[in-house]
Amino acid sequence: MSANPFDAPVRAGKNSPVNVQLPTDEQLVLKVIPMPRDVNANGDIFGGWVMAQVDLAGAVIASPYAEGRMATVAVNEFIFKQPVRVGDILSFFGKLVRIGRTSITVKIEVYAEHFCAQGKYTKVTEASLTYVAIDDQGNPREVPRAAA
Ligand SMILES: CC(C)(COP(=O)(O)OP(=O)(O)OC[C@H]1O[C@@H](n2cnc3c(N)ncnc32)[C@H](O)[C@@H]1OP(=O)(O)O)[C@@H](O)C(=O)NCCC(=O)NCCS
Repeated sequence: MSANPFDAPVRAGKNSPVNVQLPTDEQLVLKVIPMPRDVNANGDIFGGWVMAQVDLAGAVIASPYAEGRMATVAVNEFIFKQPVRVGDILSFFGKLVRIGRTSITVKIEVYAEHFCAQGKYTKVTEASLTYVAIDDQGNPREVPRAAA
């Protein structure tokens, strides 16, 4: 491992596509840089940390539809396509997929840009999550129909 994570080499190789196009039909909802405290035993960023950020990003997409309290009911799909490293600038893009009676399903895609190679993106994660609008007692309530 490099002594300074900010000196880590830019991703390369057939399984590490760099310079992918960012989505144009999704909203940029969050940008964050993982810190050394977020690494796992391999020296990459802990998957649970990435999942927490994805949950927050998904909530940003869902909350205008819920118009109030909501809870994450399901992670329908979660794919770690590439490892995330200290020094990556992560961009979380998302969009609404479906509004049900009480639920809201969103898609989130995460792109990494190395601190020393900004403007070149690698897709590191994609996920689908479902949120449920809840009332003060924590029971499901109908999602207001008015779209954000
Ligand atoms: C969210 C919660 C209130 C839903 O209660 P519930 O009794 O399971 O509600 P329902 O069975 O009526 O389902 C509510 C909606 O969630 C959807 N849902 C339930 N389980 C699901 C699953 N595994 N995957 C996808 N959607 C699901 C249902 O289809 C329904 O959507 P719809 O009304 O649009 O058709 C309850 O499960 C809960 O409190 N879970 C804990 C939430 C939590 O702590 N999250 C982590 C921190 S935010």
